Amino acid sequence: MLSDKLLAALNEQITKELHSAYVYLGMAAYLEAQNLPGMAKWMRVQSEEELEHAMKIFDFVLERGATVTLGTVEAVPTEYESPAAAFRAALEHERKITASINALYELAVQENDYPTQVMLQWFIEEQVEEEDNVGRAADMVAKAEGHPPVLLMIDHRLGQREE
Ligand code: FEO
Repeated sequence: MLSDKLLAALNEQITKELHSAYVYLGMAAYLEAQNLPGMAKWMRVQSEEELEHAMKIFDFVLERGATVTLGTVEAVPTEYESPAAAFRAALEHERKITASINALYELAVQENDYPTQVMLQWFIEEQVEEEDNVGRAADMVAKAEGHPPVLLMIDHRLGQREE
């Protein structure tokens, strides 16, 4: 049985993942408005992945016979200073999520909840990939800043991200 403390933290993480989906959707809206459809698509795919993350924890809580509670998903920006600023913000966001997953794992250890630890191992690995992917994209976009032809080339490349 999930402890109350761990259940609250898992439910909070569901909301954080939903918020992540929302954050990337906001970035997609901004990039679409900047006529950068490739980058916008990259963000849309990222947003969909975040929904999947939320659902993984959602299903896990239900499987454990506990109650899902869904918190408030805060409003997010749909304006950024530049495409590079949007991708920088994405990387900062992922770093925060990594810290949150790590704290959740620590709590699962304290609570001696082995199934939650096993479930979170997937997320720990996923966060390494997330930071790597977002970091690489952010680096490419940062290098293209101020060079429109390069920016369009990077836009095309990021648009090839598969769903
Ligand atoms: Fe669900 Fe991008 O971390």
